Amino acid sequence: MEDANMYKSDLPYPEIKVNAPNRQYALLLRDDYAGLVSEITAINQYLYHYFDNKDQCKEIALKLEKIAIVEMHHMEILAELITLLGEKPVYFSNNTFWNGSFVDYGNNLLDQLYSDLQAELKAIENYNYHIKIIKDPNIKKILERIVIDEKIHVKIFTDLINSLSVIN
Ligand SMILES: [Fe+2]
Ligand SMILES: [Fe+2]
Repeated sequence: MEDANMYKSDLPYPEIKVNAPNRQYALLLRDDYAGLVSEITAINQYLYHYFDNKDQCKEIALKLEKIAIVEMHHMEILAELITLLGEKPVYFSNNTFWNGSFVDYGNNLLDQLYSDLQAELKAIENYNYHIKIIKDPNIKKILERIVIDEKIHVKIFTDLINSLSVIN
């Protein structure tokens, strides 16, 4: 029986706290939260891929939905951090409001899984960069924990792509 826990690590999430308000850190995290490659984009992209495939390929589509739920938890963690850092968790980053053009809709399931894999890899790269430049150890720990989940998503998408490539 599959449940949502297969789509994230069993490790607990660190306590959500910051040393002090910091606008620069809040704006960096708002990029992970609502930028082009972000938790909000991932949620909406995976949900669209779920909606688009649930009739023809229900088993894989349901996995996309479950991963979107994990991204929703990441989104909530970032919203809390941004708030503690002294900014509003609005869907605005790099002078742009989040919009539906950030989603890679894709033409078929294999294309979609491939763009989902790229999104995870880019998210990990962005998080690792932010872990490097943010000096608050609380935030570093939380981002490191999120990266562990994203690496599980990389593995899931890679395995799904490989399984579909064998069939095709
Ligand atoms: Fe995420
Ligand atoms: Fe992810």
